[in-house]
Order: sequence, then C-alpha cells, then structure tokens
Amino acid sequence: MCGLFAYAGENNATSVVVEGLKRLEYRGYDSWGVAVLQADQMQLIKHVGAIGDVEFKDHLPDARVALGHTRWATHGAVNLTNGHPHLSRNGEFSLAHNGIVENYQQLKNDLTAQGESFDTDTDTEVILRLIEVNLLATDDFRQAARQAFLCLQGRNTIMVVVNEEHRVIGIRNGSPLLVGKGKDEYFFASDSLSFADHTDQCLLLDDLTLLDYRDGDLGLYAVADDTELTVDWVEVNHQSTLMAKDGHPHYMLKEILEQTSSIPRAGDISFQELRPLVAAASRARSVFVTGAGGAFFAADQIAYLLRNIGGVHALGIKAYEIASYSCMLHEGDLLIAVSQSGETADTIEAIDYAKAKGLSIACVVNMAGTTITRLSDYTYYNHCGPEICVLSTKSATAQITFGYVLASALRDDRSSGEHKSETEFLAAQMHTGFIDRLVSRTLEVAKKIAKQNHLFILGHEQHFGTALIGALNVKEASYLHAEAFSAGELKHGVIALIEAGVPVIVFVGKEDSYMLNVAAEVNARGAFLIGIAHEDNSLFDEFIELPMAGQGLVNIVSAIIPCQLLAYHLAILRGCDPDRPRNLAKSVTVK
Ligand code: G6P
Repeated sequence: MCGLFAYAGENNATSVVVEGLKRLEYRGYDSWGVAVLQADQMQLIKHVGAIGDVEFKDHLPDARVALGHTRWATHGAVNLTNGHPHLSRNGEFSLAHNGIVENYQQLKNDLTAQGESFDTDTDTEVILRLIEVNLLATDDFRQAARQAFLCLQGRNTIMVVVNEEHRVIGIRNGSPLLVGKGKDEYFFASDSLSFADHTDQCLLLDDLTLLDYRDGDLGLYAVADDTELTVDWVEVNHQSTLMAKDGHPHYMLKEILEQTSSIPRAGDISFQELRPLVAAASRARSVFVTGAGGAFFAADQIAYLLRNIGGVHALGIKAYEIASYSCMLHEGDLLIAVSQSGETADTIEAIDYAKAKGLSIACVVNMAGTTITRLSDYTYYNHCGPEICVLSTKSATAQITFGYVLASALRDDRSSGEHKSETEFLAAQMHTGFIDRLVSRTLEVAKKIAKQNHLFILGHEQHFGTALIGALNVKEASYLHAEAFSAGELKHGVIALIEAGVPVIVFVGKEDSYMLNVAAEVNARGAFLIGIAHEDNSLFDEFIELPMAGQGLVNIVSAIIPCQLLAYHLAILRGCDPDRPRNLAKSVTVK
C-alpha cells in the first residue's frame, strides 16, 4: 500500500509525477503529495483525498525532478501534516515511504533522547530524522540514507529527492520499487504500469538494494555493504491503453464486462504449457493454494477443483494463517500462490514460509515482473489486462478458470475433452450476451434490497466458495453487511438471523434438491429469497438465471458474475464509489 513515483528528465516532472500517481492510486487514496525540485528549492504540494478527484486547473510548477506519493495511512491520521512526501528541516531533501517501520517507536524514543523533535504522527518521520542526524557526520548522502535504512525493521521502501545534483535515491526492502528508462528520462515507481505510457524498459530492484540517480547516471548498490551491483534492464510490455474507462462510469463495471474475453483467454491454456506444474503437483504429497483477501477465495475454489476434478490432496490456506498449518507442509509439496498484483505482503510471506520448509512454489498472477513471480519456480499469467477497481472481479474468474484447466490436466481428460467443452461452452455464453442480460436483471434485484442492513448468502459444496466471494464483493463495494454460510450451517445457528423480509441469496445447482430444501426452510421464515439458479422456482421472490450446463467451471464462474453485478449496483444505489471503497487498497504491501 502507498504508491511511490519519482521522475527525472527533460519533461515537466510535476505533470509526469501527477499522472503516474493517478495510476498508482489503487495502492491507497487517503492523501497524495508531490515534492517538486525547483530552482534548487523544494516545493511541496499536498492534498487530502484521492488524486483522481482533483481537477488541475492551475499550471503545475515546472521542474526536471519531482517525487510523489499516494497514501494509505498506517501511522497517523489522514491529514496534510501526515501526508507524504516529508521535507527535511533544512529543505534540502524530501522523503516518501511505503511500508511500516516496525521499530519506529524505539527509534523515535532514541532520537528524542538525542534532542530531535517530531512534527507528524507517522513512522516515516523517524527515517527523515535518522538521515538528518547521519548527515551531521557525513556529507555523503547515499551513506547517510543507507545507514538510516539499516536501522529500520519491517518491510520498507523509501524514495528521497535531494537538491544537491538533482539526485534521486530509492531503497527497497519488501515493497516494490522499479525504474523505467526512457530517452534522457527516468521513472522510479512502485509498479511498471504507472510509467507504461513512457517506456517498457524496466529495472526491478531486489530487496535490500539502493538506487542512486544523479544527472543521468544510475547506480545500484547493496544496502548491506554498498557494493555496486549490475543494472539489468528487462522489457515489460503492458497494454497500458487498457487503463481507460472506455465510456463506462466505473472501472468495476468495465472490468466485470471484460470477463466476456478475459475468462475465455484464461481458459485458453494448453496441457503442454501446464506440464511442469502438473508434474510438480503429481509428485507432491499435498498441494496448498494460497492468497489474501479476494485472492484467497479464488485460491480456495482452485483447491476445490484440484480435489474434486484433479483428484489431488489440495487445500486452500489463507496466506496470513500459513503458520498454523506448519506440520502439514512437507518438503516436495507444492504451494500455488494466487495474486493479481504479485506484490501482496501476506502472500509473499506465505511463500517465504513455504520455501523455508522445502516446498516448490507456483504462482498465478496478472502483473508481470513482480516479487511473487521472482520467488516462484513455476509462473503462470492470467492475461486479464490491468484491473484498477479495488475489488477482484475479472482476476478472480480468470484465476478460477486457470485452476479448472489445471485440475483437468491433472485428471488428464484429454480423451474425454470435457474441459474443452466446458471452457468452450463458457466462452459461447460470454459471447451470446450472458453478462449483458445479467446487468439489467441484477439491477432490478439490487433495487429491492439496497435499503436493507443485512444480506445472507447460502451455498453448498462448490457454491459455498461462490457465496464467500459474493459476500466479500457486496461488503467491499456497498458496505451492506453481507455474510456467507455453508447451507449446512443454517440449522446450526444461522437460521436464528432469518426474519421476515431479510434478503437471502441461495445458489441452487442442477437438480439440487438439497438446496431447494434449504430455500424452503428460509422461505418458511419469511425471508426475501433470491435464487441464483438454472431454473426458476415458486420459492424464489427473485430469480437470477444461470446457464443450464456444466458441473465444474461453468457453474462456479457463471455464478460469481451475478454477485459482482449485484455488488456493483448496490454500491451505486447506496451512494458508494465501487472503484475506491473506503479504507481499502488494491495492493496491500504491508502486513
Ligand atoms: C486486497 C484487495 C483485494 C485483493 C487482495 C489480494 O485485499 O482489496 O481485491 O484480492 O488484496 O491482492 P492480490 O493482488 O494478491 O490478488
């Protein structure tokens, strides 16, 4: 969380940084700021709120070097004082930070004892003060910053701009930091997509690496001992044009509709391509599938498919809970990490934990050149294109589609061709207006429940996972309290919550008498029953129709989409911004 973006070059650095920050807004939108190096003076521009909401009527200051930050607050309230970048007392340098200084309280106490004072409530300010103190003993800025960084505990990435020689220093540990190289210009940022309009030449910094840029020269150094490292540029090709809303009111709707092509694309992966992963999964005693937040729910569905179609011993594990499965993780087992961004701190820590136990690591990611891809033995991409809305929509369905093809490859159903018919059927549904029809149907349903305070979602077996995804989407986008339960839990407690008029969604499979009984029990308590099913039933107050085919992929994926659309419409009807839900960020790079 928090986005960093700096620029040094011939264009107006302030404008380039502002545009870059707009693309990094998904990392946090509590406040934003830019430090502009102008005539050897540092000028700070800071605002509370999201940068995407600001209209830049005034001319932005002209400069060759600038540093920007978009904040997701960890320490210190959301206000201008705590907003980054922070300026040194002598105005000579400015610093922005992504991460958490875990030992900041101790460092702050030590610095206070030395006579230093603090203006903000942030953990970041201790880094600034440490550098200032170090600069009393040396005029070598790199060493002052490096020594300060060595005092920090936790996952931290910082960027500093220094008046002297128009210098940019960045240090990475944990949270990502990349450099883009254009013609006579450099971009320093938290992801490569933010400068994709300018260049595809990228340098991906490893942890504990320091970059030092001065007047067109870029050096890389090890934080530990300042030894110089080789600069390896790689090409990262993004479809940056896909970042526009294309006439849609929100990214969320655009990205839901894009599933028409993203799902078939995700299913278009050959058994040949999957062969190394299939071999690793077949060798393993157990396959663990992990992720955080929405990605965990997709991971759990993948584990379901690997068990029930692939026939392997597979288990979904929440990334933040991996330690509690310690005794089940054995050398030679396989961990599949599921992540849109490839940068989620919890998922990275789960990978590190599994690696230490001798597991092989595979990943299913959307973004190229990320920390998770670099930690993995087997890397697969979802090719969804940029996903900007905080909610995971097209990524989730692409991840699950990938899991389905992998499960089919494990079962080796080449001869039956069943997986082909499922993916082709799903693709055909997508191309014959399935999602378009759902847009209007789900709006009608959303209007009937938008004023409610609670929504319960019940599913069974494969649709328990669907219910979990649906409830998360509704909560995140519309702040309507939505709770998913396995239908089996109904009689063990949940039914106490059902009273007249309470909306309840039930997922009913083909010839699913079990779920119809559950629906009848809820109906008998007067609930407002929404059936997401293949066939209408007199028990339902509202019916959302699913395609009548398939047992595996089609069922799971097609049932998620109505939930996404309900969440979207509920957000709009309840006056929420579905792209930027309060307090959330798309990429969570702190623990
Ligand atoms: C955050 C986002 C979710 C996302 C999760 C994992 O919680 O709000 O939408 O699913 O992080 O992100 P990842 O990039 O690893 O998929």
